[in-house]
Amino acid sequence: MPVDRPTFEETMRGRAGPPEIERCDVTDLATHRAALEELFAARSGDLVSILQGLQRMFGFLPANVLALMAARCGWPLARVYGVATFYSGFVFAPRGRHLVRICHGTACHVRGAQRLTEHLEEHLEVRSGGTTADRAFSLEPVACIGCCSLAPAMQVDERVHGRLDAGRAAGVIEGIRAADVAGQADRVGVDAPEPPAPAGGPR
Ligand code: FES
Repeated sequence: MPVDRPTFEETMRGRAGPPEIERCDVTDLATHRAALEELFAARSGDLVSILQGLQRMFGFLPANVLALMAARCGWPLARVYGVATFYSGFVFAPRGRHLVRICHGTACHVRGAQRLTEHLEEHLEVRSGGTTADRAFSLEPVACIGCCSLAPAMQVDERVHGRLDAGRAAGVIEGIRAADVAGQADRVGVDAPEPPAPAGGPR
């Protein structure tokens, strides 16, 4: 017997998830409506791959989209949140244009990753795990990025910056700001090693 699920509109008028999780614009939802329905239908039963698809679509997991997903796929909302919050690769607020990941692997840790983090928190005026008010930078900790000989290191987008101290790290950030203005941000730093730093896995 077919399961009676709420319609797209009914769901959007209903639950929206915890208030601390950001929602996406309803216009965004309307724009993505066909793609959302296709994703839910194609991946029914595969909760993680639907979450990955949603994050690709919106850049983060908006509360109202998670509510829609739970309703359309027939999962309790708590289960959706339970899985989404288990993996570090899922985020619940829009990231900045540049993702700054400070390595906290062993080599970087013993060479001052924590001091580097505190300095960049001060320089960017944002706590680790957050995004600057102008949405230019998101700051996150990460495990080893595969450049231990360059410790302490950080990765900004796809590029790695090594042998950092507080001044050099701030210089990298300001270089990217300046390059953004000139439209050349991708020329700052060196290419990240292959394979790229892991983004998933338990928190
Ligand atoms: S520990 Fe930082 S790059 Fe390996």
